Amino acid sequence: MKKQEETEVLALETLGNAPPSSQLSEPLDYIFAEHFRQRVLCNALDEIADQEQPDRQMIEAVLRFLRVDFAPHMLDEEHDLFPMLRRRAEPEDRIDDVIGQLTQEHAADRLDAKLITEGLAKVLAGKAVTGVASSLAKLLHRFAENERNHLTLENAIILPLARIRLTADDVRNLAQRMAARRGVDLKELGDAV
Ligand SMILES: [Fe+2]
Ligand SMILES: [Fe+2]
Repeated sequence: MKKQEETEVLALETLGNAPPSSQLSEPLDYIFAEHFRQRVLCNALDEIADQEQPDRQMIEAVLRFLRVDFAPHMLDEEHDLFPMLRRRAEPEDRIDDVIGQLTQEHAADRLDAKLITEGLAKVLAGKAVTGVASSLAKLLHRFAENERNHLTLENAIILPLARIRLTADDVRNLAQRMAARRGVDLKELGDAV
């Protein structure tokens, strides 16, 4: 298999498969794994943006990811992780501004994700085009760039701080909330959560 094909197969696998449910018992690891998938999404969007001949399989994988996996992740953060972190953070952590910024970015990303979903669905239907000069390409690149910066901030500041500040109870609650959001019963996994 050529390197390009290998990269494509790996990207399709990563976008198509959420982390295993058992990993929900370590919710911060689960979020970190989702961030990796989002980086793969960004690379896929950059590739798709400049293609004159759209890669339909990759577009379908991107659409599925944006429709199924993207929203729950933002809810994990906005409804659960961020409020917990605000409660537990010390004043010297100065986390309020960072969380405020990340929440604003989520709002912008939601809008872009909706436009991207609509645009790529039209490409699949033959009613819109990608390619360097297209308006869709600009949108895809913008989203990818914003999202990479967002992920860097969350991986560098939010997750390390959460590992220090959240209590064992917080982590259990976070696990349960994230599992419920995905219709997973943690007890059935036989985990001590
Ligand atoms: Fe995130
Ligand atoms: Fe986020």
